[in-house]
Amino acid sequence: MKTEKFDASKESLIKAAQLLNDQEVVAFPTETVYGLGANATNEAAVSKIFKAKGRPADNPLIVHVHNSSQIKYYVTEISTMAQMLIDHFMPGPFTIILKSNGAVAKTVTAGLDTVAIRIPDHEIGRALIEHANLPLAAPSANLSGKPSPTTAKHVYQDLHGRIAGIIDGGATGVGLESTVVDATGDIPVILRPGGVTKQQIEKVAGKVELTGSLKENKPKSPGMKYNHYEPDAPLVLIDGDQHYFQKQITSYQQEGNKVGIIASKPLVDQLRSDISYNCGSNDDLSEVAANLYYGLRYFNDTDVDIILAETYPQEGIGAAIMNRLTKAATHHHSQNTNI
Ligand code: TXA
Ligand code: MG
Repeated sequence: MKTEKFDASKESLIKAAQLLNDQEVVAFPTETVYGLGANATNEAAVSKIFKAKGRPADNPLIVHVHNSSQIKYYVTEISTMAQMLIDHFMPGPFTIILKSNGAVAKTVTAGLDTVAIRIPDHEIGRALIEHANLPLAAPSANLSGKPSPTTAKHVYQDLHGRIAGIIDGGATGVGLESTVVDATGDIPVILRPGGVTKQQIEKVAGKVELTGSLKENKPKSPGMKYNHYEPDAPLVLIDGDQHYFQKQITSYQQEGNKVGIIASKPLVDQLRSDISYNCGSNDDLSEVAANLYYGLRYFNDTDVDIILAETYPQEGIGAAIMNRLTKAATHHHSQNTNI
């Protein structure tokens, strides 16, 4: 299949919208990561997403709509709490889980009785949904298991020849996926940390729970159990200060490895490795979030044998960064404070 490249002009969006109405799959930009969209009400279209990504069938997809008045067409009810979350966080890097009324294709919800809905805060993404006049089922537009794409080039690298089109809207802003929140009960439950922080949700909803599964590392959100975000070389997380980090680099080098590091300023400048990727300033973790997947993919074009990554505090967007890094990593090296 030839993958057509589209710019963000109105004519291009209309052509891409036509492909979606022909039940084809098109990648598009959102403020979090690029999505791989298809008509959420058509089984054949949705099955092409799973095929293109190599995605396991039991991992449900998020339904993207262009404004909040569309949500009611896909759910049985919207509680007062859910409406409050919608009013505060949508459009935005926030996905709400509500009881499904069965209007979307069964494969979208992977047989669950709930449906995930998101409104991207991205002009091009929203314009595409509006032109298509369809709800779009859209996972991140990467091959299953790889880091999510934050540029059209990443999408192309993973999926060219496997999908009908890619709309290039430049680099995404947030850089990590949306926060997935189950709003079917009395208290919102975070199933996946993301662009909207727990603290922000608490301000609106009062009490917020992290799913027990997140804490225990046993997933409730089906997708959380699969390998994720993995760069080609093994990734090891380093908990520890500059000296400990340097010792780890040197020790891997002595074993004959070419070592890449991914770290923020100022640490990144203090370390000596073979190749380093600066993911922003330590003062602003939203910068680190925006650059994280780019950094993981950056090493795929190098010949490093191993990548060592800095770790971050779990507060704010740090929780989402650490969630993704932990999944991407093969090991977690903690500093032994007894020596
Ligand atoms: O920012 C994002 O959310 C991006 C952009 C493209 O919108 N999309 C994205 O989709 O990250 P995906 O498929 O890579 O991740 C969706 C997550 C998965 O962990 C999936 O298991 C969960 O949402 N999910 C979807 N529907 C669900 C449901 N009904 N109940 C629980 N979890 C659900
Ligand atoms: Mg994904």
